[in-house]
Amino acid sequence: MNETSIIAVANQKGGVGKTTTVINLGASLAMNNKEILIIDFDPQANTTSGFGMDDEREKNVCSLILGKHSLEEVVVQTEVEGLSLVQGSRDLAGIEIELAGADEREYILVEALEKKVDRFDYVLIDCPPSLGLLTINALVAATEVLITLQSEYYALEGLSHLMNTIRNIRKRWNADLSINGVVLTMFDGRLKLSREVAEDVKEHLGSMLYKTCIPRNVKLSEAPSYGMPALLYDARSKGAASYLNLAKEVLQR
Ligand SMILES: Nc1ncnc2c1ncn2[C@@H]1O[C@H](COP(=O)(O)OP(=O)(O)OP(=O)(O)O)[C@@H](O)[C@H]1O
Ligand SMILES: [Mg+2]
Repeated sequence: MNETSIIAVANQKGGVGKTTTVINLGASLAMNNKEILIIDFDPQANTTSGFGMDDEREKNVCSLILGKHSLEEVVVQTEVEGLSLVQGSRDLAGIEIELAGADEREYILVEALEKKVDRFDYVLIDCPPSLGLLTINALVAATEVLITLQSEYYALEGLSHLMNTIRNIRKRWNADLSINGVVLTMFDGRLKLSREVAEDVKEHLGSMLYKTCIPRNVKLSEAPSYGMPALLYDARSKGAASYLNLAKEVLQR
């Protein structure tokens, strides 16, 4: 049997396409007959609202990590077949502060997931835009990290900080953490700047960079307000197609 890949989608920069990638890569992998679990690990709970759900549900990621509910109890089915979700909650911000002084505080998510995700092929964790305790927990629980970079002038800025964090995590808590890859988002092929950034990133990252670039596409930004992945909102959009291509590449890695 294949092992479950637990992929943390991370970048401490805000607004670089983490949540959009979690939702649409998750849906695209599910379309390829994979069993997917998404964990909304960001107090903003954007992934949850992106599936048309609110963050008021009592059984959510907070009650999971506090041990009030089991994974099976908190998992909900989304409208996409094969795609399940652990809903986020704004209370996660408070929990991060509460746990700051706790023993083994880096292992809270690991313990909540321990041996309970076997039935999924992929678990995607949406991280908040910081390198705080929540992201550390995600990286300790993960087998891999997927980094999203926005195609803009400062794309690579902050990447070395993230790489240092990953090295630290390996040294202290999760020796097997690997880098799944880096994906360039919001790419606009008409802009010279976007093309230059893509070249620059490719030079720096080599084969770590996915060949598939996610284009800037309005359907990707509209879909969450309709509570669905782009594949359901407009399956023929360039945005939806690009995430299907990315999924194919992910399946090959
Ligand atoms: N490829 C794209 N084309 C057009 N809009 C996009 C694309 N990717 C993301 N967006 C939009 O850009 C904004 C930021 O994207 P997203 O929420 O995915 O980033 P994030 O890294 O999760 O942000 P945060 O760090 O705040 O969690 C959102 O409004 C989203 O709809
Ligand atoms: Mg987000």
